[in-house]
Amino acid sequence: MSVRAGIIGTGFMARVHAQAIASGGHHLVGVAGSTREKAEAFAANRPATAPVATIDELIGLRPDVVHVTTPNALHREQAEAIMDAGIGVVVEKPLATSVEDAEALARRQGDVPVAAVPFIYRYYGLVREIRERIRSTPDNRLWMLHGSYLQDWLAGVDQSNWRVDPAAGGASRAFGDIGVHWCDLMEFVTGHRITTVTATVGNAFERAGGPSQNRTEDGAVLTFATDHGAIGSLVVSQASAGRDNRLYFSFDGPEESYEFDQQLPERAWIGRRDESRLITRNPAKAAASPVGLEPVPAGHPQGYQQCFNDFVADAYGALRGTPSDTLPTFADGLRAAHLTQAVLESARTGSAVAVPAFTGLADRVIASALAVSH
Ligand SMILES: NC(=O)c1ccc[n+]([C@@H]2O[C@H](COP(=O)([O-])OP(=O)(O)OC[C@H]3O[C@@H](n4cnc5c(N)ncnc54)[C@H](O)[C@@H]3O)[C@@H](O)[C@H]2O)c1
Repeated sequence: MSVRAGIIGTGFMARVHAQAIASGGHHLVGVAGSTREKAEAFAANRPATAPVATIDELIGLRPDVVHVTTPNALHREQAEAIMDAGIGVVVEKPLATSVEDAEALARRQGDVPVAAVPFIYRYYGLVREIRERIRSTPDNRLWMLHGSYLQDWLAGVDQSNWRVDPAAGGASRAFGDIGVHWCDLMEFVTGHRITTVTATVGNAFERAGGPSQNRTEDGAVLTFATDHGAIGSLVVSQASAGRDNRLYFSFDGPEESYEFDQQLPERAWIGRRDESRLITRNPAKAAASPVGLEPVPAGHPQGYQQCFNDFVADAYGALRGTPSDTLPTFADGLRAAHLTQAVLESARTGSAVAVPAFTGLADRVIASALAVSH
């Protein structure tokens, strides 16, 4: 059954969400921008989409779900307005710019039909395949979890964006913006949870026009330990020349290791002591069950937008009463906020910082969300 959706924000992510909504045969009934003109420009080639100036007008269209694609510091207030109206909500990552705000939203997750956060790298076919292999070989104890998430779009000294301003983007930039994607993916694929973090943050240069104090990091280096006894490391940067969007992981065990690179998502490396091999994505032969829309066949590369389409299909399935154990929810958004806080605290104090367990509030929130949807 088709869903009536709204979007707040008219930038990069709003376009990606709009395509994902359309790909599932759903209807984008309204869009709200920072100004009516921006909303009108966004709706110009979308005749069924009403451009509006405020979130209240958007809610007044009574959509089934609203997607929040605005700068991070606006997420809590906008999500609360949507949830107050009993409408489902998809809020871009980071869910909020503080643990307090993320927790306030996660507590209410069960009050609305769906409350999702687009950690969309979970939706690559080979990510699912690696996850399935790890689940089916518990004796291969993964003990070394490492990787990086590197970009270069903020590598120019005069390059700026609202993310550079902590008031709009939050106190952490590189980790809060992209490091959280890697951590979500690692925990989703391996089933491990980070228990302690030690982090150092750094900057490539003094950014032109940027705040000289209270600046946010261009990069971070983390070491961590997990609840399954693994150790690991993560390097995050938004100022590494030539790295467009390189999210890479290697999850290593004594029998088998697994490697994946988001920029080459049709291949994954399975390492063994006797023989290593590359596997290619092939839905017809995959062990992992597909999620979302009809998967694109082998040899027809799946991309970022397709992951987004499948995420939205998963979220709308939940909205229509089919619970999903792969859907990233507000509980996962809260998890990311806890990790971000731990990274900043460790960088400030120079000490290892404990990360709250994923039990407690987050699990209670999931339990109550599932109880509501049954
Ligand atoms: N899940 C992902 O893979 C992914 C990727 C990129 C960005 N994001 C997240 O998406 C969000 C948006 O990022 P972006 O790259 O699209 O930024 P962007 O700057 O391209 O877009 C932000 C939009 O919000 C609008 N806006 C600002 N204030 C507003 C207000 N009060 N009301 C309505 N609209 C307002 C701006 O006009 C702009 O159109 C961020 O939270 C970011 O972290 C997620």
